[in-house]
Amino acid sequence: MDNKSVLNINKNYWDRNADEWFGVTSLPTYGVQFVTEDELKLFGDVAGKKMLDIGCGSGHSLKYHGDNNAAELWGIDMSTKQIENANKYLTECGYTPKLINAPMEVEYGIPKEYFDFVYSIYAIGWTTDLQGTFNRIASYLKKDGIFIFSWKHPLHHCVVVEEDKLIFEKAYFDENWFTQLLDDCDITLCNRKISTYINALGKAGFVIEQMVEETDKATMSSTGNLDNRSKKAKMLPLSFIIKARKL
Ligand SMILES: C[S@@+](CC[C@H](N)C(=O)[O-])C[C@H]1O[C@@H](n2cnc3c(N)ncnc32)[C@H](O)[C@@H]1O
Repeated sequence: MDNKSVLNINKNYWDRNADEWFGVTSLPTYGVQFVTEDELKLFGDVAGKKMLDIGCGSGHSLKYHGDNNAAELWGIDMSTKQIENANKYLTECGYTPKLINAPMEVEYGIPKEYFDFVYSIYAIGWTTDLQGTFNRIASYLKKDGIFIFSWKHPLHHCVVVEEDKLIFEKAYFDENWFTQLLDDCDITLCNRKISTYINALGKAGFVIEQMVEETDKATMSSTGNLDNRSKKAKMLPLSFIIKARKL
């Protein structure tokens, strides 16, 4: 499937379902049943810093940084409805964000060598052009600027739970695009290997400072009659985070 068709399918999903995702995948949460920014403190002190959120959704992660005294809040998202929601939410909270309604696959007048932090909470994996997206993100950052992103762990996609066993159902190596139904609407994604992310970061001029694969403490200590997701989360990470620095 060509990249333009993938973007159209996914934009349609996000425009139709934006309200259902209002504030769902946003900082301090990095992923479901996963360690949070409250514990990890990957951003450190953002006071006075310029922030760019890739796939900013409803704007809740930008608000998190605004509440921690970040100087500038920028976001890009290809969903018109998400950008409308984010604009309304952040304005009501007293912020004046700069929000851009465009795919992360294009340059859209975002300033170069400008940001202290570029980050993305559960949005990077939607890109149809990983290397180009990482190259652009590197270009937006100042030297030594930080890029942090979280996404679904590729093992989570490959493994299913059957009773008390985890079964490998899909090949970890398969990075082909697939279409599935979510909320009665098509989405198209691919499941990239961890090495694909790491190698693309290196090529874009980043050095990796930290990678996090850690289920939250509550899940790890849970016992008794667990749902399938908890059973899985106790055995493998459902999400991962990479923190990288632009050289
Ligand atoms: C799970 S949501 C992330 C929500 C966000 N972290 C928040 O705080 O609300 C994923 C977002 O990525 C956006 N998205 C998907 N594909 C995109 C693309 N190619 N370019 C830009 N945004 C994209 C969607 O519109 C959606 O808002």
